[in-house]
Amino acid sequence: MTTRSLLTLGLLASTAFAAPNWAATSTTTVTKTKTTTEHETKTKTTTVHETKTETETKTKTTTLKPTVTITGSCSASAPLSSSTSVSSTSSSSSSASSSASSATTSPSSVISATSTTSSTINTNPTITKTATDVPTATASGLNVAAKNAGKRWLGTAADIPGTGEGADPYYLAEFNNANEFGEATPANTMKFFATEPQQNVFNFTGGDYFVQQAKASGKEIRCHNLIWANQLSDWVTSPAVPWTNATLTAALRNHVTKVIEHFGDDCYSWDVVNEPLSDSPAGAWAANVWYNTIGEEYFFQAFDAATQAVKANNLAVKLYVNDYNIEYLGNKSIAMQGLVKELKSRSLQIDGVGLESHFIAGETPAKADQVANMQAFTALDVDVVVTELDVRLNLPATAASESQQKLDYYNTVSACVSVARCVGVVVWDFVDTYSWIPSTFPGQGYGDLFLQPGGANTPLVKKEAYDGVLEALEGLAEIAA
Ligand code: XIL
Repeated sequence: MTTRSLLTLGLLASTAFAAPNWAATSTTTVTKTKTTTEHETKTKTTTVHETKTETETKTKTTTLKPTVTITGSCSASAPLSSSTSVSSTSSSSSSASSSASSATTSPSSVISATSTTSSTINTNPTITKTATDVPTATASGLNVAAKNAGKRWLGTAADIPGTGEGADPYYLAEFNNANEFGEATPANTMKFFATEPQQNVFNFTGGDYFVQQAKASGKEIRCHNLIWANQLSDWVTSPAVPWTNATLTAALRNHVTKVIEHFGDDCYSWDVVNEPLSDSPAGAWAANVWYNTIGEEYFFQAFDAATQAVKANNLAVKLYVNDYNIEYLGNKSIAMQGLVKELKSRSLQIDGVGLESHFIAGETPAKADQVANMQAFTALDVDVVVTELDVRLNLPATAASESQQKLDYYNTVSACVSVARCVGVVVWDFVDTYSWIPSTFPGQGYGDLFLQPGGANTPLVKKEAYDGVLEALEGLAEIAA
């Protein structure tokens, strides 16, 4: 299939899968009183005693008294109280006791491992909360809320081992909190350069460690990724003998087969091909060593090898294609729909499409557009996952941009909640300290759900973005006044 035929397929898809009209969704303001008491032992090393009382009409009061003990490195007792006033008429203002952030914004709560902290926070006063779903579980956290919303999990990427994350007790305590994260994606350790550093010489040390860490807290793993343009081994990009179609196809198939075989059912899913499509022109094949040498058949060869490996080893692992700028119904999404159809017409296994969702605050697709786009994929009988969500800001962050960011997080998570076959949402790591954003997009950052005002190896602070995710999962409507 040529690029032109791919685009033609896309145009057909465009006709067949017109966006449903989601504009008519209505909401009702209600008064809700909720009292939750939790006494929970999560692991041998972490104990949480949390009492939460929440009364919500236009005023919400929350008292949280978590006690966290991290064996060997530190102990923590962190009473925290906050009161939130929501007014439909006043302008935005916020304040908080935490001041160590470099951003001129207000974290929504502070979790201190060393001292007692209390904060009073006024959240965005333009927000009205509407209860459409009352959580049923007694524990709290993003993953708990995701499950209550009918999702499989709320997950996160993590870059362990071998980085600062893996040595940061505060990072690890949060990562290991099954109430917060029910899924983990290895940010780097399963990529080509890591798993096959020399041809047919495999190294699964990092990947195996990741699997062990993730499974220790009951997480499922979205294994990432088998074939991509980037982070390849030198032997692929600078071969001693120039590749031919046949030799590179054999190398590609060998990699896909051996890596799937090794990790087996420890992977909930594999991103078989990552980012196959281009932005210019949107929806064309992306140029890379695979495409340049083999042509578009490389994509189908990868899925063919993966399909056979899953069958031969009797695995339950799901096969995904993953890309960015396919989160709304543009040419790239339409071309991706064409790829899904082509995979199915060739009887190759394709279970889902990963919507990366690396967004910029204030520039994310509208919730209705994200829903319509997800529906266009699920209409093809595949699942979707929001695979790499982050929402970066132009630095320095401001109160206004942080509020916008919260709304952007809310909209994407809420879109997934709205679509039955959106399996779940994965954030592309959860603490700004370890985000890929600042080094990749100079001048931008502050894109994750938590920050560490004191830097690495210091307590995490939940940002407004965290609240946006939680509110979306809890079915609370966020409405501009
Ligand atoms: C990023 C990692 O987070 C970085 O640590 C690494 O240096 C580059 O890759 N899309 C993807 C991910 O599918 O694999 C990328 O991860 C981010 C963009």
